Parts: sequence; C-alpha cells; structure tokens
Amino acid sequence: MRVDADAPVTLGITGASGAPYAVRLLRALNESATPVRLIISGYGWRLLAEESGIEGEAELRAATSDWSRVELYDPLDRGATPASGSARSRGTVICPCSMGTLASIAAGTSRNLIERAADVALKERRPLILVPRETPLSLVHLENMLRLTRAGATILPAAPGFYHRPQTMSELVDFVVARILDHVGVEHEVGRRWRSGEVSDEE
Ligand SMILES: Cc1cc2nc3c(=O)[nH]c(=O)nc-3n(C[C@H](O)[C@H](O)[C@H](O)COP(=O)(O)O)c2cc1C
Repeated sequence: MRVDADAPVTLGITGASGAPYAVRLLRALNESATPVRLIISGYGWRLLAEESGIEGEAELRAATSDWSRVELYDPLDRGATPASGSARSRGTVICPCSMGTLASIAAGTSRNLIERAADVALKERRPLILVPRETPLSLVHLENMLRLTRAGATILPAAPGFYHRPQTMSELVDFVVARILDHVGVEHEVGRRWRSGEVSDEE
C-alpha cells in the first residue's frame, strides 16, 4: 500500500442512503485542513437533498466548514485530475457507496469519475475505502465486496456500534466517520475511542 500523507483525499458521494455520513466526513476533512477532491454523482446530490436537506453546492458549502482546500469535479468528466494515476493522492473514499457504484468498481468499468478514481486507487495500490449501505445483502453484493477486498479495497460498512451508548444521531454518524478518517490516515477528534471499562450503567 502506498501512502502519500500530504496529498489530497478523493471523496466520492453516491446515491446510497447515508448522506449525513458524507456531510460529517467532508466537514471533518475541511476542519482538519485536508485537501479534498470532491465528486458527487447525480443520485448523490439527490440523497443529500432528501436526507440532509442540502439542495446544491452553496448549501453543501455552508454545512461543511472551510472549502479553501476543496475542489469539486464533474462526475462525468473522466479526464479530470482524479482520473490519473500520476496525480498525487492520499486515497479515495466513497461514502456512502451505492451497490451500483460498488459493482462497477468490482467490474473495473470506470463509467464515471468516481468509479475511475476508485479504479486508479486500486491499480496504484493506494487506500480505497468503500462505505456501502444496503440491507439485506444479496450474493451479488457479497461477491462484489469479496472481489474488491481481494483487490486491496477496504469495505467499511455504515454500521455504527452501540457499545459506547450513543444518545444522539450525530454520535452514531461520528462512529462511522471516525473509522473512515482512521483508515485514510487523517488525525481527528471525531467521536470517542473505546477504552474498556469507560461506559457504566451509572452514566
Ligand atoms: C431515496 C433513495 C435511497 C436509496 N438508497 C440506496 C441504498 O441505501 N443503497 C444502495 O445501494 N442504493 C440506494 N439507492 C439506489 C441508488 O441511488 C441507485 O442505484 C443509483 O443508480 C446509484 O447511482 P450512483 O452510484 O451513481 O450514485 C437509493 C435511491 C434513492 C432514490
């Protein structure tokens, strides 16, 4: 695995349920001053509107802190910077990742810039973190995840734990986002790290 710690993170947002994870993740990356190459599919925008009430770029900017290090790309432009293996990259995160996008990456079809960026991460041996959300999972979904894991991707399902006794939706969201940031190697203060004995019934 190649790690380029100062390079931008490529963040793809697709049309699986889980827009609040994407919004929180982008805000955390911006707050940590991490450069971000942002690509949002058509259905990604639809889910941002339906689940987080974010209707377009201006509202996404307002919800996700300082955009001075964010570059937003057209998902249909497969010739843009994230499409090239020669562009420096710390890794690619797709959050949330639809089963459709996951299947295309597993098949290597690169139909849009998000899928191409993922394909490049695999061939360049850079971190590729996919955050799928679907239930139940079919054999096709499971086989695609297995294939991608074998190819070097990390499948990080949007499946928060409950052992830290979350009280709010943001704590559940932070649980998943913290794991994503850990896997792409970004320092953060999102969520609480588990220490045994920390949670008690008296809290
Ligand atoms: C409200 C809504 C919720 C959806 N939730 C999911 C989901 O949780 N997981 C999934 O794989 N697809 C889900 N889909 C379907 C995808 O959006 C659809 O397959 C789309 O073509 C994905 O395209 P994209 O990967 O290019 O964004 C949902 C669609 C809508 C409209």
